[in-house]
Amino acid sequence: MTDVGRHPLIELMTYSEVKNVRGYVGNFEVTILRRARFVDEKECTACGDCADVCPVIRPNEFELGLSTRKAIYSPFPQAIPPAYVIDIDACLGNMPLACEKCYQACEKKCIDYDMMDREVEVKVGVIIVATGMKVFDPTSLTEYGYTRYPNVITSMEFERLINASGPTGGELIRLDNHKRPHRVAFIQCVGSRAQRRGMPYCSNVCCMNTVKDTILIKEHWPDIEVSVYYIDIRAFGKGFESLYMRSKSYGVRYIRGLPGEIRSNSSGNLELIVENQENGSVESHEYDMVVLSIGLEPDETLEDLRQKLSLSKTADGFLMEAHPKLQPVDAPTRGIYFAGCAEAPKDIKDSVTQASGAVARAGILLNKGEITVEAITSRIIESKCRMCGICAKVCPYNAIIFDKSKKQYPKVVEAACAGCGTCGAECPFDAIVMRHFTDEQILAQIDAMLETNPMDKVVVFACNWCSYAGADFAGTSRFQYPASPRLIRTMCSGRVDSKFVLHAFRKGAPVVLVSGCHFGDCHYIDANHWTAKRIEKLKKRLEKLGIRSERLQLWWISASEGQRFRKVMELMEEIRQTVTPEEVEETKRILEEAEAKKVKAG
Ligand code: FES
Repeated sequence: MTDVGRHPLIELMTYSEVKNVRGYVGNFEVTILRRARFVDEKECTACGDCADVCPVIRPNEFELGLSTRKAIYSPFPQAIPPAYVIDIDACLGNMPLACEKCYQACEKKCIDYDMMDREVEVKVGVIIVATGMKVFDPTSLTEYGYTRYPNVITSMEFERLINASGPTGGELIRLDNHKRPHRVAFIQCVGSRAQRRGMPYCSNVCCMNTVKDTILIKEHWPDIEVSVYYIDIRAFGKGFESLYMRSKSYGVRYIRGLPGEIRSNSSGNLELIVENQENGSVESHEYDMVVLSIGLEPDETLEDLRQKLSLSKTADGFLMEAHPKLQPVDAPTRGIYFAGCAEAPKDIKDSVTQASGAVARAGILLNKGEITVEAITSRIIESKCRMCGICAKVCPYNAIIFDKSKKQYPKVVEAACAGCGTCGAECPFDAIVMRHFTDEQILAQIDAMLETNPMDKVVVFACNWCSYAGADFAGTSRFQYPASPRLIRTMCSGRVDSKFVLHAFRKGAPVVLVSGCHFGDCHYIDANHWTAKRIEKLKKRLEKLGIRSERLQLWWISASEGQRFRKVMELMEEIRQTVTPEEVEETKRILEEAEAKKVKAG
């Protein structure tokens, strides 16, 4: 942090918030709210004279409330910049000037009660999102009695307790009587790997953090008995297994099974009720202190920033990368990268590795000064465009610039367009050409595949990233599935225009399947939400026309779901067998008539 603070090419904006982000790769404009700290950060030397005289006492957030701070304070030791900040809501010196003690004590006159928040605009070429994480709050797990029993603490509180610069100077003490505990228990997976009691995922860092803590205890206070309650210990990673073995060699007890309840007994100690899964017995164990090893969650600021940057998230709420294996630090939006727990829970080593990767990726782009984009982008045909603005509304990347009041045709920013094709599918006037996936190309594929024996075929639109890869996976896994499906690849299911589906039915297709990535997995942020809406609308339209809507199917199949692909294809085959030649002929007639009416109406 100190190096970052001193670096001539890095401008550190602490106490700031991203208010808005506009633009695209190479041309981002970011509005940043710089909050007033009421202390001149360039002049303040963090001597602490101001805090010494401040009469206001508040809980210290950095120490998780285990100690106090003043209304003027340094957020944490070694904070960069090394300047104090005033908690203006707590300060007595603010309107009316009732205290002013810090102002009087500050020789350099750094304090300015009239300092205001201000907004600054910065232009940047790339953005790296590193919002960090927050920890699970175990208060809701009433069976563990957190906040009810003073000696039930979280792993974060434990970290502060044993930290040499923490509230006790590194002394491990019980919080009720300030004496050293004799028996300490750690409970793993609190808020992690639990569907209804926290997050379903593994938080990645808790096992090794506990192993490290047990070693710290044993090396400082060998007489303390330490036990760990766990589901399984995940000690993968360089040197982790040997650390785990070292913990065991120090006499730390590892007990398989998570306690069902913690009670306080008559001697003021804690009693854990646990099913020991190694022998199947329900046991009661007594401790002086219990540490809840809490899981990690996305930081609360992440969702707001995600929306401002038009990024997608996984079901867990973390940011989704462009590709889990090939582009693990890239966002699907060009010019945006991730580092650390914004993308998934990870430890310091992995965060530093990812940060290095993100910086390298950003550096490549910045040094090049120009970007190479895939040729799969949209183009507006102005002669057909009626300036309805739907294309701009549906674009997940805000890559189409359109301002109705200016009465100008929409403009596609090619550097920002990722090529999902949703704009082309949604445009009601066919005024958008999707390069390499044009209407003509896709309609020609439909024509070719239904030219002979259309009754035997199921037309399947499959998105490049998930469903098409799922089909591939089914093939390489040698899963047998019916021979009726004929696949048409589009980059995203968002590209599947209603007219492609109707064309297939007009050409005699008994069944049409649109398939894409599951919600949250779409490689074009949320383009598949538009697919779902479109297909829903189309099904209603088919019903209205007297065509069985069951013949149009929408299924989400991921790249790893070869089995699911097989099952969906079997289902399509079942539906196909229910369709008679008469029904297909009737469909053709209805759709031809509808088309003729449309042409007539102009
Ligand atoms: Fe698969 Fe969008 S990329 S549905």
